[in-house]
Amino acid sequence: MSFIMKKLKTDRGYIPLYEFNCVESTQRMAKVLYDRYKYDTYVVWAKEQLKGRGRRERVWHSPRGGLYFSLFYENLEVRFPQLASLASGLAMREALKEIADISCDLKWPNDILYRDKKLCGILSEAASCGTDVHRVIIGVGVNVNAEIPHELKDIAVCLKEIIGNEVDLEGLLSLSAERLLFRIAQLETKEGQEEILDSYKRHCTTLGSTVTIILDEGSITGQAIDITQEGALQVLASGTLHSIATGDVIHVRKRG
Ligand code: BTN
Repeated sequence: MSFIMKKLKTDRGYIPLYEFNCVESTQRMAKVLYDRYKYDTYVVWAKEQLKGRGRRERVWHSPRGGLYFSLFYENLEVRFPQLASLASGLAMREALKEIADISCDLKWPNDILYRDKKLCGILSEAASCGTDVHRVIIGVGVNVNAEIPHELKDIAVCLKEIIGNEVDLEGLLSLSAERLLFRIAQLETKEGQEEILDSYKRHCTTLGSTVTIILDEGSITGQAIDITQEGALQVLASGTLHSIATGDVIHVRKRG
């Protein structure tokens, strides 16, 4: 295993940053590094991933030029893991706003879209014990400087294409880690959770849209009307209100 050990400056002081040239997946590497070094908070960054993983076991195309990292965070006492996922989406939206001055939309639970195309994806995995989450690994993939393959151009976009120039990956990494740590720390209080939900809802274009939710056991189409305090999406379909904790959303018709 070969990496450069650095330090990332954050509001909470310095945290370890493991920088890899190439790994299979930073998400998997974050777990391996925990078993070995046992730091409670750290970031694993790779310039390239050979087996980048997306939500629902999809492949996350990870060529050089993109930003791929996982933030490992231990001792997160929050009863609703879904909220950590929403908080991460909000944090990445803020980091992208700060570095590139762009305004992105959030698609529930945590896709970041620029003009309806995916710019950033987040895989938030919690290791829970009872109802309290103790560890969370937030894997973030941002399309930054690498060109989007032709077959994905209708659904994905990269930062370079939006702003017309390359972005410094380490700068974006550091800003992202800072925003993520801030938003995750906010989850520890009730007021913090409320503020996250309020801000999240303001930028979530899923709300008010007609959506199809792909679930393991089938799909539901209806109107996305709200997000619960636990972070679940409420969908009204044929007169029945469904609370969806996890699932994939397709925006069938955007709110008018
Ligand atoms: C999605 O939208 O499906 C989530 C994509 C998450 C990709 C990131 S890249 C860094 C980390 N390592 C992985 O293998 N996946 C996440």
